[in-house]
Amino acid sequence: MAREPISKIAYKTLQQGKSIAGLAHKELSTRIMNFLLPDKKLGNLNIDQKLLIDIQNSMEFLREVDWNDAENNIYPKKLLFDEPWLRYLTQYPKIWLDMPNTWDRRRKQNFKDLPKNIENENYPKYYLRNFHHQTDGYLSDFSASIYDLQVEILFNGSADAMRRRIIKPLKEGLNNFSNRKKSSLKIIDVATGSGRTLKQLRGAFPKEKIIGLDLSGSYLKEASRFISDLDGDLIELITGNAEELPLKDNSMQGISCVYLFHELPRSVRENVLKEFFRVLEPGGVLVLADSIQVNDSPDFIQIMENFHKSFHEPFYCDYIKDDINTKITDIGFHNVKTSSFFMTKVWSAIK
Ligand SMILES: C[S@@+](CC[C@H](N)C(=O)[O-])C[C@H]1O[C@@H](n2cnc3c(N)ncnc32)[C@H](O)[C@@H]1O
Repeated sequence: MAREPISKIAYKTLQQGKSIAGLAHKELSTRIMNFLLPDKKLGNLNIDQKLLIDIQNSMEFLREVDWNDAENNIYPKKLLFDEPWLRYLTQYPKIWLDMPNTWDRRRKQNFKDLPKNIENENYPKYYLRNFHHQTDGYLSDFSASIYDLQVEILFNGSADAMRRRIIKPLKEGLNNFSNRKKSSLKIIDVATGSGRTLKQLRGAFPKEKIIGLDLSGSYLKEASRFISDLDGDLIELITGNAEELPLKDNSMQGISCVYLFHELPRSVRENVLKEFFRVLEPGGVLVLADSIQVNDSPDFIQIMENFHKSFHEPFYCDYIKDDINTKITDIGFHNVKTSSFFMTKVWSAIK
């Protein structure tokens, strides 16, 4: 059997280390919660041995694909090792200090615990809540400052590897414009959050114009800090609603959108897809990444149920059964493709 190169072993070791750290954090925090503030409503979240093995295999597959895409120059290998350790160091104690507030909100089923100074009329109703029981929902600098490490822990250190799955289909789609200068192509990352996807995109698309849009000004401020020292042109950040993008018809060649759809009511998902269709130029590519769904990942239903039980995600149960493929096709996109990697499903489609 051929030996793996040292850099691949280093990558896999890094990923395994992050996975162990994520699992250890979850185990420890659950034990402390059960001791200090037990929540009977949570019930049993244990998973059986077979499922654990399936999860491990699926993470292994994700790492293999992630490594191979870097080997094939879909994106630079340095992205695989680019961890913001110093940032994690400042975020981690804040997560622990905030945890009792999160538990308390879950126990009291209080999902409307938002900062008093926000102007409600600036946001859609479904958005004004504590998704994941998160302190301040998406509506404060504090929430933005700990979000990405929380996601990293949730996905056992695989969040960026899953986000990177949007890059290959985006590149393939942008080939439709290969006769144009790369610097004339525009990609928008909708619901960009605190900047992790933008960093992956800039690494893979050093010349293209990249825009990040989100409803949360606080998350965009955090994104701005996170991406400030990236090579290449400045990334534009826009505060806006995915249902009414502040962009002209046919003005974008690529759209990405990561982990938004499971947090939207069904009708809003449809509005957002229509809006994506409006702003994409014919031939442009849409790439969505979100949670796996029931129909193509039936073995992981228990994990989807546990996620719904543990976190305030009111639209998730509907999302995992929603036929997004048909919606995308009905709106007018063609060449719809899907694939799943660990906990993430990726759709790509061409206008
Ligand atoms: C789960 S986070 C995903 C963030 C990021 N894409 C990532 O990969 O971590 C969902 C994001 O969607 C944003 N969001 C929710 N509804 C939105 C809408 N209608 N328009 C724009 N952004 C929205 C939230 O502010 C939040 O930053």
